[in-house]
Amino acid sequence: MKVIMLGAPGAGKGTQAKKIADKYQIPHISTGDIFRANIKNGTELGTKAKAYMDQGLLVPDELTLELIMDRFKEPDCKNGYVLDGFPRTIPQAEALTRALEEQGESIDYAVNVEVPDENIISRMSGRRACLSCGATYHIVHIPTKVEGVCDRCGEKLVLRDDDRPETVEKRLGVYHSQTQPLIEYYTSQGKLAEVDGTQEMEAVFEAIVKILGA
Ligand code: AP5
Ligand code: MG
Ligand code: ZN
Repeated sequence: MKVIMLGAPGAGKGTQAKKIADKYQIPHISTGDIFRANIKNGTELGTKAKAYMDQGLLVPDELTLELIMDRFKEPDCKNGYVLDGFPRTIPQAEALTRALEEQGESIDYAVNVEVPDENIISRMSGRRACLSCGATYHIVHIPTKVEGVCDRCGEKLVLRDDDRPETVEKRLGVYHSQTQPLIEYYTSQGKLAEVDGTQEMEAVFEAIVKILGA
Protein backbone atom coordinates (compact mmCIF):
# COMPACT_ATOMS: atom_id res chain seq x y z
CA MET A 1 0.00 0.00 0.00
CA LYS A 2 1.25 3.48 -0.90
CA VAL A 3 -0.27 6.33 1.06
CA ILE A 4 0.44 10.06 1.05
CA MET A 5 -0.40 12.20 4.07
CA LEU A 6 -1.47 15.72 3.15
CA GLY A 7 -2.22 18.55 5.55
CA ALA A 8 -0.98 21.81 7.02
CA PRO A 9 2.03 21.92 9.33
CA GLY A 10 0.82 20.58 12.67
CA ALA A 11 -2.28 18.89 11.23
CA GLY A 12 -1.11 15.57 12.67
CA LYS A 13 0.43 13.96 9.57
CA GLY A 14 3.39 12.58 11.51
CA THR A 15 1.26 11.35 14.42
CA GLN A 16 -1.08 9.43 12.09
CA ALA A 17 1.64 8.27 9.69
CA LYS A 18 3.40 6.42 12.54
CA LYS A 19 0.19 4.65 13.47
CA ILE A 20 -0.44 3.69 9.83
CA ALA A 21 3.13 2.38 9.51
CA ASP A 22 2.65 0.17 12.60
CA LYS A 23 -0.73 -1.20 11.58
CA TYR A 24 0.02 -1.90 7.92
CA GLN A 25 3.69 -2.83 8.40
CA ILE A 26 5.04 -0.33 5.91
CA PRO A 27 7.82 2.22 6.43
CA HIS A 28 6.99 5.77 7.53
CA ILE A 29 8.96 8.14 5.33
CA SER A 30 9.06 11.75 6.54
CA THR A 31 11.23 14.16 4.55
CA GLY A 32 11.17 16.53 7.54
CA ASP A 33 12.51 13.77 9.84
CA ILE A 34 15.22 12.88 7.31
CA PHE A 35 16.28 16.53 7.06
CA ARG A 36 16.31 16.89 10.87
CA ALA A 37 18.39 13.72 11.26
CA ASN A 38 20.88 15.16 8.77
CA ILE A 39 21.02 18.45 10.66
CA LYS A 40 21.62 16.58 13.92
CA ASN A 41 24.45 14.59 12.33
CA GLY A 42 25.99 17.68 10.72
CA THR A 43 25.89 16.41 7.12
CA GLU A 44 26.22 18.66 4.07
CA LEU A 45 22.57 18.02 3.17
CA GLY A 46 21.60 19.00 6.73
CA THR A 47 23.48 22.30 6.54
CA LYS A 48 21.81 23.16 3.24
CA ALA A 49 18.32 22.19 4.43
CA LYS A 50 18.56 23.99 7.79
CA ALA A 51 18.95 27.39 6.12
CA TYR A 52 15.49 26.98 4.55
CA MET A 53 13.76 25.12 7.36
CA ASP A 54 14.62 27.63 10.08
CA GLN A 55 13.00 30.34 7.98
CA GLY A 56 9.85 28.29 7.46
CA LEU A 57 10.59 27.94 3.75
CA LEU A 58 10.59 24.77 1.68
CA VAL A 59 13.85 23.05 0.84
CA PRO A 60 14.35 23.30 -2.98
CA ASP A 61 12.66 20.54 -5.00
CA GLU A 62 15.92 19.35 -6.50
CA LEU A 63 17.49 18.56 -3.14
CA THR A 64 14.31 16.95 -1.80
CA LEU A 65 13.73 14.81 -4.88
CA GLU A 66 17.25 13.46 -4.91
CA LEU A 67 16.89 12.40 -1.30
CA ILE A 68 13.48 10.77 -1.63
CA MET A 69 14.20 8.91 -4.87
CA ASP A 70 17.18 7.29 -3.12
CA ARG A 71 14.99 6.36 -0.17
CA PHE A 72 12.49 4.57 -2.44
CA LYS A 73 15.28 2.24 -3.59
CA GLU A 74 15.70 0.79 -0.08
CA PRO A 75 14.40 -2.79 0.18
CA ASP A 76 11.82 -1.96 2.89
CA CYS A 77 9.83 0.02 0.28
CA LYS A 78 8.89 -3.03 -1.77
CA ASN A 79 5.47 -3.39 -0.08
CA GLY A 80 4.74 0.32 -0.11
CA TYR A 81 5.11 3.18 2.36
CA VAL A 82 3.37 6.06 4.04
CA LEU A 83 4.74 9.41 2.90
CA ASP A 84 4.63 12.28 5.41
CA GLY A 85 5.61 15.74 4.19
CA PHE A 86 6.28 14.64 0.62
CA PRO A 87 5.15 15.61 -1.98
CA ARG A 88 4.75 19.23 -0.97
CA THR A 89 4.76 21.05 -4.30
CA ILE A 90 3.19 20.30 -7.69
CA PRO A 91 6.61 19.55 -9.27
CA GLN A 92 7.30 17.04 -6.46
CA ALA A 93 3.92 15.38 -7.00
CA GLU A 94 4.51 15.18 -10.74
CA ALA A 95 7.96 13.67 -10.21
CA LEU A 96 6.46 11.04 -7.89
CA THR A 97 3.68 10.19 -10.36
CA ARG A 98 6.25 9.79 -13.15
CA ALA A 99 8.63 7.67 -11.07
CA LEU A 100 5.78 5.32 -10.12
CA GLU A 101 4.39 5.17 -13.66
CA GLU A 102 7.77 4.01 -14.92
CA GLN A 103 7.23 0.92 -12.76
CA GLY A 104 3.58 0.55 -13.73
CA GLU A 105 2.49 1.66 -10.27
CA SER A 106 0.56 4.48 -8.63
CA ILE A 107 -0.28 5.62 -5.13
CA ASP A 108 -3.41 4.21 -3.47
CA TYR A 109 -4.59 7.17 -1.40
CA ALA A 110 -3.73 10.75 -0.59
CA VAL A 111 -5.23 11.34 2.86
CA ASN A 112 -5.86 15.00 3.66
CA VAL A 113 -5.89 15.67 7.40
CA GLU A 114 -7.97 18.82 7.63
CA VAL A 115 -7.30 21.24 10.54
CA PRO A 116 -8.10 24.98 10.42
CA ASP A 117 -5.22 27.46 10.88
CA GLU A 118 -6.63 28.67 14.24
CA ASN A 119 -5.93 25.28 15.86
CA ILE A 120 -2.44 24.92 14.44
CA ILE A 121 -0.45 27.49 16.41
CA SER A 122 -1.41 26.12 19.85
CA ARG A 123 -0.63 22.59 18.73
CA MET A 124 2.82 23.55 17.56
CA SER A 125 3.87 25.51 20.62
CA GLY A 126 2.96 22.49 22.77
CA ARG A 127 4.69 19.97 20.55
CA ARG A 128 7.79 18.20 21.77
CA ALA A 129 9.83 16.11 19.33
CA CYS A 130 12.36 13.31 19.65
CA LEU A 131 15.15 13.90 17.17
CA SER A 132 16.38 10.33 17.63
CA CYS A 133 13.34 8.22 16.70
CA GLY A 134 11.02 10.88 15.24
CA ALA A 135 8.25 10.46 17.84
CA THR A 136 6.15 13.56 18.60
CA TYR A 137 4.15 14.45 21.70
CA HIS A 138 2.08 17.33 22.96
CA ILE A 139 2.52 18.69 26.49
CA VAL A 140 -1.27 18.76 27.00
CA HIS A 141 -2.90 16.47 24.41
CA ILE A 142 -0.32 13.69 24.10
CA PRO A 143 1.96 13.77 27.17
CA THR A 144 4.93 11.46 27.78
CA LYS A 145 5.13 9.16 30.82
CA VAL A 146 8.19 11.04 32.11
CA GLU A 147 8.23 14.77 31.36
CA GLY A 148 10.70 15.69 28.63
CA VAL A 149 11.75 12.10 27.87
CA CYS A 150 10.76 10.03 24.81
CA ASP A 151 8.48 7.06 25.70
CA ARG A 152 9.84 5.05 22.81
CA CYS A 153 13.61 5.47 23.05
CA GLY A 154 14.43 7.43 26.22
CA GLU A 155 16.06 10.41 24.47
CA LYS A 156 15.49 14.00 25.63
CA LEU A 157 12.69 15.83 23.81
CA VAL A 158 13.09 19.22 22.18
CA LEU A 159 10.97 22.09 20.85
CA ARG A 160 11.72 22.18 17.13
CA ASP A 161 13.58 25.28 15.90
CA ASP A 162 10.81 25.97 13.38
CA ASP A 163 7.97 25.75 15.94
CA ARG A 164 8.33 29.34 17.16
CA PRO A 165 5.00 31.16 16.53
CA GLU A 166 6.39 33.60 13.89
CA THR A 167 7.88 30.72 11.91
CA VAL A 168 4.69 28.66 12.22
CA GLU A 169 2.73 31.51 10.61
CA LYS A 170 5.23 31.65 7.78
CA ARG A 171 4.98 27.86 7.29
CA LEU A 172 1.19 28.14 7.13
CA GLY A 173 1.53 30.75 4.38
CA VAL A 174 3.92 28.52 2.45
CA TYR A 175 1.51 25.61 2.92
CA HIS A 176 -1.44 27.52 1.46
CA SER A 177 0.46 28.78 -1.56
CA GLN A 178 2.64 25.77 -2.45
CA THR A 179 1.17 22.60 -0.90
CA GLN A 180 -2.62 23.11 -0.81
CA PRO A 181 -2.81 22.87 -4.65
CA LEU A 182 -1.99 19.15 -4.21
CA ILE A 183 -5.53 18.62 -2.89
CA GLU A 184 -6.83 19.53 -6.33
CA TYR A 185 -4.10 17.47 -8.01
CA TYR A 186 -5.02 14.26 -6.15
CA THR A 187 -8.76 14.96 -6.39
CA SER A 188 -8.43 15.03 -10.18
CA GLN A 189 -6.55 11.70 -10.02
CA GLY A 190 -9.41 10.24 -7.94
CA LYS A 191 -7.05 9.50 -5.03
CA LEU A 192 -8.07 12.07 -2.42
CA ALA A 193 -9.64 11.09 0.91
CA GLU A 194 -10.53 13.69 3.55
CA VAL A 195 -10.48 13.25 7.33
CA ASP A 196 -11.38 15.72 10.06
CA GLY A 197 -8.09 16.27 11.90
CA THR A 198 -9.63 18.28 14.75
CA GLN A 199 -10.94 15.10 16.36
CA GLU A 200 -9.09 13.30 19.10
CA MET A 201 -6.04 11.36 17.83
CA GLU A 202 -7.64 7.88 18.00
CA ALA A 203 -10.80 9.07 16.23
CA VAL A 204 -8.70 10.50 13.40
CA PHE A 205 -6.94 7.15 13.10
CA GLU A 206 -10.23 5.23 13.00
CA ALA A 207 -11.41 7.47 10.16
CA ILE A 208 -8.21 6.73 8.26
CA VAL A 209 -8.49 2.96 8.79
CA LYS A 210 -12.03 3.12 7.37
CA ILE A 211 -10.54 4.58 4.19
CA LEU A 212 -7.52 2.30 3.90
CA GLY A 213 -9.35 -0.87 4.95
CA ALA A 214 -8.74 -3.01 8.05
P1 AP5 B 1 7.88 18.65 8.37
O1 AP5 B 1 8.70 18.02 9.39
O2 AP5 B 1 7.18 17.82 7.37
O3 AP5 B 1 6.87 19.65 9.06
P2 AP5 B 1 5.36 20.09 8.67
O4 AP5 B 1 4.74 19.66 7.44
O5 AP5 B 1 5.41 21.56 8.87
O6 AP5 B 1 4.53 19.29 9.60
P3 AP5 B 1 4.77 19.03 11.08
O7 AP5 B 1 5.71 17.93 11.29
O8 AP5 B 1 5.08 20.36 11.74
O9 AP5 B 1 3.30 18.64 11.52
P4 AP5 B 1 2.55 17.23 11.44
O10 AP5 B 1 1.40 17.38 10.51
O11 AP5 B 1 3.50 16.10 11.23
O12 AP5 B 1 1.94 17.20 12.89
P5 AP5 B 1 2.27 16.30 14.18
O13 AP5 B 1 1.78 14.92 13.97
O14 AP5 B 1 3.67 16.50 14.65
O15 AP5 B 1 8.79 19.70 7.56
C1 AP5 B 1 9.61 20.64 8.23
C2 AP5 B 1 10.35 21.47 7.22
O16 AP5 B 1 11.19 20.62 6.41
C3 AP5 B 1 9.47 22.22 6.19
O17 AP5 B 1 9.03 23.46 6.70
C4 AP5 B 1 10.46 22.35 5.02
O18 AP5 B 1 11.37 23.39 5.24
C5 AP5 B 1 11.23 21.04 5.05
N1 AP5 B 1 10.62 20.00 4.20
C6 AP5 B 1 10.12 18.79 4.60
N2 AP5 B 1 9.64 18.09 3.57
C7 AP5 B 1 9.85 18.86 2.45
C8 AP5 B 1 9.56 18.69 1.07
N3 AP5 B 1 8.94 17.58 0.61
N4 AP5 B 1 9.91 19.69 0.22
C9 AP5 B 1 10.52 20.80 0.67
N5 AP5 B 1 10.81 21.04 1.96
C10 AP5 B 1 10.48 20.07 2.86
O19 AP5 B 1 1.27 17.02 15.22
C11 AP5 B 1 1.45 18.35 15.64
C12 AP5 B 1 1.20 18.47 17.15
O20 AP5 B 1 -0.16 18.25 17.43
C13 AP5 B 1 1.97 17.45 17.98
O21 AP5 B 1 2.37 18.03 19.19
C14 AP5 B 1 0.96 16.34 18.20
O22 AP5 B 1 1.24 15.61 19.38
C15 AP5 B 1 -0.34 17.11 18.28
N6 AP5 B 1 -1.48 16.37 17.75
C16 AP5 B 1 -1.48 15.49 16.70
N7 AP5 B 1 -2.72 15.01 16.49
C17 AP5 B 1 -3.52 15.61 17.41
C18 AP5 B 1 -4.93 15.54 17.68
N8 AP5 B 1 -5.76 14.77 16.94
N9 AP5 B 1 -5.41 16.31 18.68
C19 AP5 B 1 -4.57 17.10 19.42
N10 AP5 B 1 -3.24 17.21 19.21
C20 AP5 B 1 -2.72 16.47 18.21
MG1 MG C 1 5.60 15.95 11.04
ZN1 ZN D 1 12.57 8.75 20.65
